[in-house]
Amino acid sequence: MTSEVGRSFDRQWAELAEIGRHAQTGGYRRYALTREDHDLREWFAGQATDRGLDLTLDRMGNQWAWWGDPDTIPGLVTGSHLDSVPDGGAYDGPLGVVSAFAALDRLRDSGVDPQRPLGIVNFADEEGARFGIACAGSRVITGALAPERALGLTDGDGLSMAEALRAAGRDPELIGPDPETLRRVGAFVELHVEQGRGLIDLDHPVALGTDIWPHGRWRLDFPGEANHAGTTRWADRQDAMIGLASTILAARAAATTHGCVATIGKTLITPGGVNAIPSAATGWLDTRGADEGAVRRTVAEVTAAAGDWGATVTEESWTATTRFDLDLLTRLRRALPAAPLLGTGAGHDAGILATAGIPTGMIFVRNPTGISHSPAEHAERDDCLAGVEALTAVLTELVGTGLAGAGP
Ligand code: GLV
Ligand code: MN
Ligand code: MN
Repeated sequence: MTSEVGRSFDRQWAELAEIGRHAQTGGYRRYALTREDHDLREWFAGQATDRGLDLTLDRMGNQWAWWGDPDTIPGLVTGSHLDSVPDGGAYDGPLGVVSAFAALDRLRDSGVDPQRPLGIVNFADEEGARFGIACAGSRVITGALAPERALGLTDGDGLSMAEALRAAGRDPELIGPDPETLRRVGAFVELHVEQGRGLIDLDHPVALGTDIWPHGRWRLDFPGEANHAGTTRWADRQDAMIGLASTILAARAAATTHGCVATIGKTLITPGGVNAIPSAATGWLDTRGADEGAVRRTVAEVTAAAGDWGATVTEESWTATTRFDLDLLTRLRRALPAAPLLGTGAGHDAGILATAGIPTGMIFVRNPTGISHSPAEHAERDDCLAGVEALTAVLTELVGTGLAGAGP
């Protein structure tokens, strides 16, 4: 690792550090189509321009920076996303983008003569923190999320994605599947901070991804009747909150039984008054597990529990088990023979591209506490630079010698 690459990494990291950082929590609030998102996209465009890369936008506004012409021959793409969950950490997403630029710098410094174009991508709205659907950027261009559904999604203030796009100066009419963009992607390798403790146990700075657990999000709507908190007798109450609270516990029990995990981390209580019985309660369930059938059984039990309280359950998104491309994994192992293999329970744009038939792989960088989706998320600088080194080795293997066996 040259000190020049360390400097490239540090410089980028420092430039991003304050964008969307919340003064009190220290976490990041970088949501799609906001001022912070705009600033992050400007930053990405600046990095591309500084390096003389060709910047293009696809039909969902994902940013692609190309070295070489992917219309003559499909290229290798790396990168990740820059948005965050509410009060997210610094690494989830940005580590993959910053490492991509740093690895490209390193590749150029080493004098590699690329046989294929190399692209760096910034996927839009990976977390779905504002409009509810994770990986909206990659889902729309691959056809996994219909444009009319995406445009109709609303944020917490009731603003639709179509309206937010217009407010950001973008044309909602352009949103849609983008086979032309996807044709340029011969293979995709996403570097990402690990979001669990796998690499601590394996005692290694980087791993290669094998698969992503099946996972999804469900909306649970409980009915109730608004009334006075002091004067309404127990027998006369229809408290929407009670159904939701009971179902949250049922979700934990069902997930435990089936070897899955279940989380209700977002709720909306109406009208939200301390002294008013809730007339409606909505909870969003996130369920994941190694086995698809087990996840489905968990959700069926939660649905039954919610049904006992008159709730309706709506599936908002579902991602089946994703296995990364075996031929590509063989190439990645050639570049990184010492790297252990690791599956993950976290979702990624890499999973959406893999499902769309693009040969896809992932590199994980050790997370010394395993904490993620939290301001406490961390990765040591040495491990981050080991990640850049690993990505450089992968790019050298795949771009320096062509993508044989890994192209569409
Ligand atoms: C994305 O980070 C997810 O796994 O929810
Ligand atoms: Mn995330
Ligand atoms: Mn991520």
